[in-house]
Amino acid sequence: MNILLTGGTGYIGSHTAVSLIELGHTVVIYDNLCNSNASVIDSIEEITSIKPAFVIGDIRDSALLERTMSKYAIEAVIHFAGLKAVGESVQKPLDYYDNNVSGTVTMLSVMKKLGIKRLIFSSSSTVYGTPQQLPLTEEHPVGGVTNPYGRTKLMIEEILKDLADSDPLWSIVCLRYFNPIGAHESGLLGENPNGIPNNLLPYVARVASGQLECVNVYGNDYDTPDGTGVRDYIHVVDLARGHACALKRFNEMHGCEAINLGTGNGYSVLEIIKAFEKACGKEIPYRITDRRPGDIAANWADPTKAKKLLDWEAHYGLDEMCASAWNFEHKLREKSA
Ligand code: NAD
Ligand code: UFG
Repeated sequence: MNILLTGGTGYIGSHTAVSLIELGHTVVIYDNLCNSNASVIDSIEEITSIKPAFVIGDIRDSALLERTMSKYAIEAVIHFAGLKAVGESVQKPLDYYDNNVSGTVTMLSVMKKLGIKRLIFSSSSTVYGTPQQLPLTEEHPVGGVTNPYGRTKLMIEEILKDLADSDPLWSIVCLRYFNPIGAHESGLLGENPNGIPNNLLPYVARVASGQLECVNVYGNDYDTPDGTGVRDYIHVVDLARGHACALKRFNEMHGCEAINLGTGNGYSVLEIIKAFEKACGKEIPYRITDRRPGDIAANWADPTKAKKLLDWEAHYGLDEMCASAWNFEHKLREKSA
């Protein structure tokens, strides 16, 4: 298939590009580079020996999107493009609604105009809000989201349901990601946020490489086995493969389907620090601080639906996730030394 990846130079999009190219799909990447670098295209080429077509563009630019989708005879879109920093979304809500929600509506209008009705959307487990029970199945109520970023995901899911209801020819899969971590085994692709990382794994990796001093553990008084927050961490390469499995579904399904992509296992912040210490062979200093506002105690997925509908399940364990993240971080520091 000819597939457009919006946000395809980003962390998850770049790993998905590799996965799809390796399966023989033709990938076109469309990204405005607001949170990624064009050098990712060279890394994808180095790994797969194929250079994907790349257009620098914004999803809110309908004319450029239309030209790109027509030029490359796009048959399906995987929509990763979006802003994703929870804290920033509280400071700049309009930027988030404009970029994520308006941008998606613009993109959907172009798809509709061109008759392209196959879409995979990057949603998030954040749509479940505070879990009423664990593990989280797709039937768990959505809502109760504590920040504008999460609300954009919820709003977009609602828009996609309405769209699928309006026209039975749409096939839409909302993949609700749990916490992607890790990197490609080559060490050429991974997560390298600008500034001080918001997320746990890149922060731990930078402490391990000496870029930052000490991990702040946000609270040890949660109702979890060791008191620290528990999440379902999933290897980004497993997550990437999930998109390839969802693409196959398009032949049998219509409508709009939400599917969890997680491992079904929860790990605490302290367990993550321990696993990373094992991967890098160093002690990682940490200190317990106050809870981070808006955080929940625990969430992890029930991945049964993904297994049933997509024939997908996660293969990698926590040690492999940490080892690959360390390999990436280590190479990055070698390069910049
Ligand atoms: P990322 O920031 O690495 O990738 C997003 C890409 O989209 C970037 O390359 C950025 O330059 C591009 N982009 C942003 N706005 C754009 C616009 N208006 N037009 C064109 N390109 C634009 O993030 P990621 O971690 O790869 O996340 C991909 C998607 O998955 C996002 O939608 C994110 O919200 C969602 N998601 C991520 C996580 C996570 O923990 N990483 C969890 C759940 C959901
Ligand atoms: N944490 C720390 N110290 C840090 C960073 C995080 O203790 O420096 C803790 C958090 O309190 C939480 C856990 O580590 O218990 C994970 O936090 P992350 O920030 O890595 O991830 P979140 O679960 O808060 O959120 C992430 C993404 C969201 C996405 C969600 C579900 O940031 O965008 O996963 O997919 F919606």
